[in-house]
Amino acid sequence: MENSRPSWTSRLTFILAAVGSAVGLGNIWRFPYIMGQNGGAIFLLVYLGLILTICFIPLFAELAMGKITKKECIGAYESVNPKFKLLGFLNPLTGILISSFYFIVGGWIIKYIILSVSESKITDFGEYFTAFTQDSIPACVYTLLFLFICVFFSARGIKKGIEFANNVLMPLFAVILIGLIIYSLNLPNAKLGLEYMFKPDFTKINAQMFLAALGQALFTLSIGMGALLTYGSYIKEDKSITKSTYTIILSDTLFALMAGIMIFPAIFSFGLEPNSGAGLVFVTLPHIFAQMHYGNIVSAAFFVLLLAAAITSGISILEVPIASMSERLKISRKKACTYLFLIISAIAIPATLSFGALSNITLLNKSIFDFLDFITSSLLMPLNALFLCVIAGWFLKIKGGHFIQNKFLSFLFDIGLKFIVPIILISLLYIGLK
Ligand code: TRP
Repeated sequence: MENSRPSWTSRLTFILAAVGSAVGLGNIWRFPYIMGQNGGAIFLLVYLGLILTICFIPLFAELAMGKITKKECIGAYESVNPKFKLLGFLNPLTGILISSFYFIVGGWIIKYIILSVSESKITDFGEYFTAFTQDSIPACVYTLLFLFICVFFSARGIKKGIEFANNVLMPLFAVILIGLIIYSLNLPNAKLGLEYMFKPDFTKINAQMFLAALGQALFTLSIGMGALLTYGSYIKEDKSITKSTYTIILSDTLFALMAGIMIFPAIFSFGLEPNSGAGLVFVTLPHIFAQMHYGNIVSAAFFVLLLAAAITSGISILEVPIASMSERLKISRKKACTYLFLIISAIAIPATLSFGALSNITLLNKSIFDFLDFITSSLLMPLNALFLCVIAGWFLKIKGGHFIQNKFLSFLFDIGLKFIVPIILISLLYIGLK
């Protein structure tokens, strides 16, 4: 057990870790396919609008609550009012449930890196992907391997583990991303992909798109699970978190846009459709890589990029239950990591098997994997974000005036935190659960 709470080495390492948390599968796997399913450029416009006007409010509130209380989630909620303890507990619980399916996708990435460098000649990637996810033992091994990598970094602590992973993986991520964008923009007909991203068709706008954009925005910014609250609680110095909030939002958005600029030109250049859903990265892209010059190198680079992003986000998801377990149960970080590895494995293995051996088990008519995705993204995350805004706005009384000079903007922030964001989140919950 550490004597005192750990803290970040510097403001830069904190920002890097927070950006590392935000930039993950949400940006590179989820964002392009959700955009592809929701009309391209017009979705992007709605998404950017929501990020800039609404999402910075809960993001700021999470960081602020961590920084003010200097506690993990349960303690942070409890310190505002002991009655809120149970609401705080929902955060590490959500973390455990999210990680169970996030880490399955992480496992797929490791498999695809190996596939890229092996001399396999696959003709139908759709079939290949289905067969691989159904093959029980290898699929579980990859899930556990990815989980192990993340837990390994986490167990080494804030400075030697989390900061180290982010300091190495985030620059690696940025360099590969830029390299792949240059490659993609030089493909024939790359222009079509850019038009798809940036030329909105206003006739396609609809309510469903707003919902998809809001869900995506919360997920990609890591809002609604206490990850930013926990990271915020390790901020040592008395520096303002306003600038950090903007940096996190802008970097995350920039990386999502860059992922789109890397992926869409390639899709259009090879005459494919961008609306293939969750299989976009694991089925459509490999199909493209197979036809490219030096395709296996490009493919390996792409999946290493995805792995780097997934590890830094995975670590941030784990940090919520790790901090809660070690501080509440007064056990060492390493012990908490070991228990967590076992707990997450116990959920992640059945979820992995739900593609194959356990596909006949359903909860609310969904496979275990889809059920975990559903209760975390449609129920627990918006609910956590709602509780957080209400507690931060009404009880902890976080005010815009403390950090925004402009009176009108700070007034908007206050109304946003107390009324507008909670109402939007309640609507999101209502529609999502209907
Ligand atoms: N934001 C990450 C991504 O885009 C995922 C993530 C990390 C997350 N921590 C989170 C999502 C906390 C919700 C809550 O992939």
